[in-house]
Amino acid sequence: MPQRTLVLLKPDATRRGLIGEIISRIERKAGWTLAAMELRTLDTATLERHYGEHLGKPFYEPLMEFMASGPVVALIVQGESVIEGVRALAGKTNPLEAGPGTIRGDFATITRENLIHASDSEESAEREIAIFFPKS
Ligand code: TYD
Ligand code: MG
Repeated sequence: MPQRTLVLLKPDATRRGLIGEIISRIERKAGWTLAAMELRTLDTATLERHYGEHLGKPFYEPLMEFMASGPVVALIVQGESVIEGVRALAGKTNPLEAGPGTIRGDFATITRENLIHASDSEESAEREIAIFFPKS
């Protein structure tokens, strides 16, 4: 079944010049297409909605600060099994546990600065798409 997922290329990806590399990896998957894309610096209200599930956790405040520290690229990617697929491409949350060949495994070493967000379920995807692309 075709799906949509919300992807954020985090401020470290923009700073480190990895936007093209990461989008290339997504585009390399036959049948996946970009449905929306925007470069923007996120405000607190947007970040609170996006990461609300983590409110109160010890990493929440530093995560919010990091996510607001520079522009991110927000994307909607659509295609077959794209939700699980982009999560697999991203690799595990802790880059030290992410496999070689994954985006986090290849380019990141710090959990907070792990380059990419990807929705983790159909429900999250629709909720997150509504935050970043309310008109779609
Ligand atoms: P989470 O939703 O658990 O991971 P994922 O991005 O793989 O869905 O956490 C959201 C982000 O919070 C994660 O990408 C990086 C940051 N984070 C930390 O900084 N420290 C932590 O211990 C965890 C679990 C996450
Ligand atoms: Mg998550």
